[in-house]
Amino acid sequence: MTKVLLDCDPGIDDALALALIAGSPTLDLVGVTTVGGNVDLALTTANALALREFLDLGDVPVAPGSPVALMRDNVRASHVHGATGLGAAVLPPATKPAADGHAVDLIVDTLRAAPGEITLIATGPLTNVALAVRKEPRIVDWANDLVIMGGSYTRGNHNPAAEFNIITDPEAAAIVFDAAWVPTMIGLDVTLKARMTSALLDRMWGLGRLSDLLVPAAQSYAQVTETSGPAIHDACAVAYVVDPSLFTTVPAVVNVETAGRYTTGMTVVDFNLRDRAPSAQVATDLDVGGFWDLMLSSYKRLGARLG
Ligand code: BDR
Ligand code: CA
Repeated sequence: MTKVLLDCDPGIDDALALALIAGSPTLDLVGVTTVGGNVDLALTTANALALREFLDLGDVPVAPGSPVALMRDNVRASHVHGATGLGAAVLPPATKPAADGHAVDLIVDTLRAAPGEITLIATGPLTNVALAVRKEPRIVDWANDLVIMGGSYTRGNHNPAAEFNIITDPEAAAIVFDAAWVPTMIGLDVTLKARMTSALLDRMWGLGRLSDLLVPAAQSYAQVTETSGPAIHDACAVAYVVDPSLFTTVPAVVNVETAGRYTTGMTVVDFNLRDRAPSAQVATDLDVGGFWDLMLSSYKRLGARLG
């Protein structure tokens, strides 16, 4: 079993990533932390709490983190994820509260308690992870791995240069990529290949109660993204942890632009290491068929369990 802690901003594709964790027999979810991102923190936290119960995740702690970026005005994506953050999906509101304490403390304390055992997966802006690195720099040694959905070496989605999770808090992203670990960057270069076509969406029906989340969420997500189907970005980061062989990764030095007039939030990826140590492993390719096989088998397993 791989222990994972998810830092997220649900968010339709964050919800689909959490469902992938819930349906993966090799993953053991030890915590969920939330950050302001796609929608405000109050909503990302309410969504994470509702998802914990809907996906039958037991008592896994859910802790809210930073409502704002380190240094900038909030950037939000409710035009993509809807006013609530979960598109057209309507889940029963949570009956149980968030954990006491702050996301940053949950990240630090959880990693400290099991050095080398826990993989941190970040599918939102990197504010909480950066604050955790600043509060306790030793987390870079304690984390088994850090897998980030964010950035790109080819194009942005928020603007031509920048991907949403990075532009939302570029200073935080710079802190995280500059720290002394070698995270895995699952960027738009591969996530834009993970599109839920209408044929795949059809296969989200018939999964019992789980379909009540998957179908409306994916349908409303599809309406605001390209016609070839919405890219399920955040689930790619989870898929990497379940089966890294689905991805090609290349070591690189990644720098985050924080001062560009047109390029702030860009991840500047240098694959030409020369004498430098890599600062990240950057995903460059995805086995798309294998990804969807994993998604569908996990959702089928979870759907059967939830009834
Ligand atoms: C990322 O931005 C958010 O809108 C998604 O949830 C995903 O984490 C994709 O750029
Ligand atoms: Ca996200």
